[in-house]
Amino acid sequence: MDYFESKVVGQEQLTDDIFVLKVERRDAVVAAGQFFMLKCWDNELTLMRPISLFKADEHTLHFMYRIIGKGTRRLSALRAGDPIMLLGALGTGFPVREVKGKVALVGGGLGIPPLCQTTHELHDLGVETDVFVGYRDTLFALEDFEPYAHGIFVATEKGEEGYRGFVTDLLKPELYDAVFTCGPEIMMRKVAAMCAATNTPCWCSMEHRMACGIGACLGCSIRTPEGMRRVCKDGPVFPAHLLFH
Ligand SMILES: Cc1cc2nc3c(=O)[nH]c(=O)nc-3n(C[C@H](O)[C@H](O)[C@H](O)COP(=O)(O)OP(=O)(O)OC[C@H]3O[C@@H](n4cnc5c(N)ncnc54)[C@H](O)[C@@H]3O)c2cc1C
Ligand code: FES
Repeated sequence: MDYFESKVVGQEQLTDDIFVLKVERRDAVVAAGQFFMLKCWDNELTLMRPISLFKADEHTLHFMYRIIGKGTRRLSALRAGDPIMLLGALGTGFPVREVKGKVALVGGGLGIPPLCQTTHELHDLGVETDVFVGYRDTLFALEDFEPYAHGIFVATEKGEEGYRGFVTDLLKPELYDAVFTCGPEIMMRKVAAMCAATNTPCWCSMEHRMACGIGACLGCSIRTPEGMRRVCKDGPVFPAHLLFH
């Protein structure tokens, strides 16, 4: 984990409020489900903003994010050649080396991007993946999964594309050796319950407001049956039974 200055390679706008920021990788070592703290401002905003790794290739880190407030709006104004500060890669990601056989990845909204790097790494480890993705309406990132996923199952709330309804309606956990999920808490809670009912191991990626991102301030601590855990350092990925019990 390092704090380093890098340079923006490019920025792509996917929808009204969703962007992909590409940044020079430098020597960053990354793993599926990890995140970086990003900052492209001096004094007007103090905290860096946590964004998950969407994809990494040899020279570039890709981040997919939605504009929420000041920080993400500032990120969206970045152009090729602009400087950016990064801290990362941070956190404990998905346990890609602990699973084998067939894994389901279940993502909703902006929980979908971190599953892309995860699918890629599982593919390289010889693990077969089915990807279940739920969108409000506009689809994004599907083509990024295509080279690595065995199956891709799409749900939209209004049904313009794919299945009409919740992505969890499509999932049958008993068909898989493990399930990884990232997205709205209500969706992950449902996935965790379905996995518990079928004894399928399940890991969930949590979001929490973060200040330091490195486990020092305890601001992101959550209570679990096994004691307090820091989302930024012990997570963001946790076994489902620690989060939903
Ligand atoms: C581990 C992790 C990974 C994330 N990955 C992504 C991603 O890949 N793509 C994406 O679009 N978003 C992601 N988020 C959410 C993203 O960090 C927030 O949307 C962003 O920080 C909002 O900042 P802002 O200045 O635009 O909004 P503001 O509302 O102005 O932010 C104010 C403060 O609240 C914090 N904050 C606000 N919303 C959140 C949130 N949902 N989670 C955590 N902190 C929040 C900010 O860090 C900041 O300190 C992730 C969050 C976490 C914790
Ligand atoms: S954000 Fe500081 S300990 Fe997690």
